[in-house]
Amino acid sequence: LFKNHARINGRGEQVNVGEALREAKTRLNRVSESAASDAQRLLGHVLSVDRAHLLAYPETELSPEQAGQFEALLKRAEAGEPLPYLLGRWPFYDREFIVTPAVLIPRPETELLLEQALAYVAERPGAVVVDVGTGSGALAVTLAALRPAAQVYAVDISPAALAVARQNADLHHTDITFSDGDLLSPMLEGGLKADVIMANLPYIARDEVPGLAVSRYEPHLALDGGPDGLDLVRRLLADAPRVVKDEALLLLEIGWDQGEAARWIAQAAFPNAAVDVLKDYAALDRIVRIEQK
Ligand SMILES: C[S@@+](CC[C@H](N)C(=O)[O-])C[C@H]1O[C@@H](n2cnc3c(N)ncnc32)[C@H](O)[C@@H]1O
Repeated sequence: LFKNHARINGRGEQVNVGEALREAKTRLNRVSESAASDAQRLLGHVLSVDRAHLLAYPETELSPEQAGQFEALLKRAEAGEPLPYLLGRWPFYDREFIVTPAVLIPRPETELLLEQALAYVAERPGAVVVDVGTGSGALAVTLAALRPAAQVYAVDISPAALAVARQNADLHHTDITFSDGDLLSPMLEGGLKADVIMANLPYIARDEVPGLAVSRYEPHLALDGGPDGLDLVRRLLADAPRVVKDEALLLLEIGWDQGEAARWIAQAAFPNAAVDVLKDYAALDRIVRIEQK
């Protein structure tokens, strides 16, 4: 497209949608396994049209401004910047969320945690639900939207992340009480008792963070879980017994290799609860489920 863009400016020729997509796909192939759909999403974003429209009208010519905007986004994508940050929106479960580099990009694995919470709250309308480390608000907002009788609270230690979560709560017309604080400290201070605690906290071992592709663009505060990755999980579970009702459900996302360690920590904190480690779609340990009856 760079070539075509030069053509536009130089000889006044224009590039059309089909040509732009083909060239973008070739370039993105080097950095992405989903180059064709990435190219479509980026061009759709620039032209404010959906994929079906792009495919139906490949002869549509790009204006020089559109070609310039597309080229700028392509360059950033080629440099490795994640697509969700380029688009500013990303889907999670049944809706789209505003995402900025202040928040973790919501991941499909986290939908498993949400599904567990949705099922539990379906039986308990009016449940008090706390989302700890809310980030974009993906969990809290989706739960509040789909279970409108629930009383939803969300905490994050990052004011920048909370600002994004608040925007998402407004975008999806949900009523959530947000707190800026460390783990469950706002709940301990307020004397809140929860039916459900859900938490996708940072769980990557500190030494591994710098070597991971995600750490180039996503906030370190969302990734670094201390020496073995379980620092925040340990601290949360130490406080959690004072924040939950006698009957309660806790759901924590963990790394694929943390199942056994997290199970022990959970059982020590909640000796009478049923503790299960649930697997994700790739059959890897992903969620610790603690149900106290
Ligand atoms: C892995 S991200 C998860 C974001 C979102 N819940 C999701 O599932 O997409 C973890 C979040 O925890 C927040 N966080 C890190 N340490 C925290 C702490 N001590 N107390 C509260 N939030 C914390 C980070 O700012 C980040 O937004």
